[in-house]
This record gives sequence, structure tokens and C-alpha cells, in this order.
Amino acid sequence: MLAIRVHQTGGPEVLWLEDVAVPAPGSGQVLIRDEAAGFNFISCYYRTGLYRQALPITLGREAGGTVELVGPGVTTVRQGDRVASETVLGAYAEYAILPAERVVPLPDRVSTRQGAAVMLQGLTAHYLTHSTYPLGGDDTCLVHAAAGGVGLLLCQMASRLGARVIATVSTDEKAVLAKRAGAAEVILYTQDDFVAAVKRLTGGAGVQVVYDSVGRTTFLAGLDCLAPRGMLVLYGQSSGPVEPFDPQLLNQKGSLFITRPTLAHYTASRAELLERAGQVLGWVADGSLQVRVGRDFQLADAAEAHRELEGRRTTGKVLLIP
Ligand SMILES: NC(=O)c1ccc[n+]([C@@H]2O[C@H](COP(=O)([O-])OP(=O)(O)OC[C@H]3O[C@@H](n4cnc5c(N)ncnc54)[C@H](OP(=O)(O)O)[C@@H]3O)[C@@H](O)[C@H]2O)c1
Repeated sequence: MLAIRVHQTGGPEVLWLEDVAVPAPGSGQVLIRDEAAGFNFISCYYRTGLYRQALPITLGREAGGTVELVGPGVTTVRQGDRVASETVLGAYAEYAILPAERVVPLPDRVSTRQGAAVMLQGLTAHYLTHSTYPLGGDDTCLVHAAAGGVGLLLCQMASRLGARVIATVSTDEKAVLAKRAGAAEVILYTQDDFVAAVKRLTGGAGVQVVYDSVGRTTFLAGLDCLAPRGMLVLYGQSSGPVEPFDPQLLNQKGSLFITRPTLAHYTASRAELLERAGQVLGWVADGSLQVRVGRDFQLADAAEAHRELEGRRTTGKVLLIP
């Protein structure tokens, strides 16, 4: 089968298309024929070495496909089932192994492609808005990079919970997408001072929560957007890792909270994974959650997909098609 492999960390040029053996599912594992692999920023971190993994690896942890074989002891799915997962062991490939307890069967009205597109970013938007800071009708939130993969889903879920969404994006085109996803106001943070804009838009009060996936370039200023006792949820670092900071800042700026959550801890048990996935896939099935696939790339063009994502030229979800 064809797979995108990384033998040494580096730029997009270290992604090699290779012909490798189809893996065999071990005990508690499932082999799927991969219809679409979800592309996520975390793959860039494994490629560059910011996040460490033993090499060589097949990149990618999100996919949708059809079960081809099940290993010993697997009772959750059967051959021929359509499934998706955010814990794939090597999704950038024609076939991939999944731990059976991380496999989610897809409802009839959700396509395999939609499943591949929504598992990681959809479940992330779900835990951020429902668990990390459970939003309500009295809340205003600031969503950075709102036209991105997580961003568009976050805006939709936040507005569905009744919260007012203030979004930041880099271009007018992205502003249109953020508005369509439910943002009440959009700030072009590459042109305008987003702290001043948030203060103006909230009458000086600030927001209850900042959802920050951008990191280095937005983190400190994000603290100045919060109302007293507000929460900064730092869940990513697309501009680079945040510098160390003095916790006294939290006291000085209003007894603030900071958290750095990750999806694995909000889907740790199979029950929690299925509960979140059930809600998210249910909204996709009834049409109330739009999963915008901005672009498809063929597997062989994975390096180009990485360049586009890191160059801020993508919107919504990006899929790799084996
Ligand atoms: N903690 C978790 O559970 C979790 C789960 C999923 C994703 N994440 C993280 O969330 C972040 C976003 O992930 P995603 O896959 O949804 O990506 P994405 O938001 O679709 O793409 C990244 C966006 O970040 C913005 N950005 C700002 N400065 C940037 C820079 N210097 N370089 C590149 N992009 C920049 C760009 O939007 P503008 O052009 O509008 O600025 C860009 O489109 C990543 O750090 C990812 O690892 C975390």
C-alpha cells in the first residue's frame, strides 16, 4: 500500500510517499481501508519534531474508512462497517490500524468523508465549548483563527449554546466564513489591535473566555481581553509555542484562569468518546453542524498540504485522499 512516511524530522520535504506492507491488525485492533485522512496541525508538530515520536512513522491520526479486518477480541465493529477515528496509527495511507476502543461507527446519514473530517476537530470544539468552559447564553467568547478547522466548528457550537462569538481571522475571505459559522463580530487581527477591538465590542467588560489555538502571537494579549475571573483556553500553537510567563500576571489582570487542554483527556474513556462523538455526528446527520472541507489533497501531495496549512492558506478542514 502507499503511505506517507517520515524518517527524519524537518520541513515538508521529509514526507515521503512509500510502498509498504499492509499492516495486520493485532489483538484489539482493526484494519480499515482508508477513504479519507483528516489533516490536522498536530501532524506538522510530529513532522518538525516539536512533538516527539520514534521514527520512522506513518503520519496522521484521523481517518474514515471501511473495516477490512478485525483482530482477535474485537467486538465493537465488524468487517464492512463504516467507521472513523481520531486515534489512528498512521492515517496517511491506503490502509490503517485503529485501536478498537477508539473506533466510532458512523450513522447512515454521515458520509465516511464527513466522519474523517469531523472526528478530531469536531470533538475538540465540543469539549472546549461544553466541558473546558461550558458556554451559556450570558457568555461572550473570543475565538482566534475562527476560519480554521477547529475554529469554524467552535463558532458554530458556541453560537448554538447561545454565546456571543467574537472571532479573529487574517483575511476578509476568512471573515465571511467566520460570520457564516455564527460569529457576531469579526476582527482582522493582522490589521487591527484585537485587544482594543474586544474592549470596544464589549463596552470595556471583556470576554468570559478566550479560545486560543494560535499561541505565541496571541497568548499574552489574550489575557487583556478577559473579564475578571475569565479563562484563557490555550489549546494550540499554530504561530509557535508560548514563552514562559509569570503567574503573577493572572492576579494582576483579574484573577484569571489558564488551561492547556488536549482532546485525549476529554475522551479518555470509551463512554466519553462515544457520548461526544454521538452528539457531534448527530448534528452532522441532521444538518445543524456544517463541516466545511476547504480542500482535498491526494496522498502524494501531502507535502503541499503541509505547506498550505503552515502558510495560513487553508480554511476549514483539509483532507488527504489515499
Ligand atoms: N488541544 C487540542 O485538543 C487540539 C485539538 C485540535 C487542534 N489543536 C491545535 O489547534 C491549532 C489549530 O489546529 P487546526 O488543525 O484547526 O488548524 P487551523 O486553525 O485550520 O489552521 C491554523 C490557522 O492558524 C492561524 N495562524 C495564526 N498564525 C499562524 C502562523 N504563524 N502560522 C500558521 N497559522 C497561523 C491561521 O488562521 P488566520 O490566517 O486566520 O490567522 C491558520 O489558518 C493547532 O495548534 C492544533 O495543534 C489542539
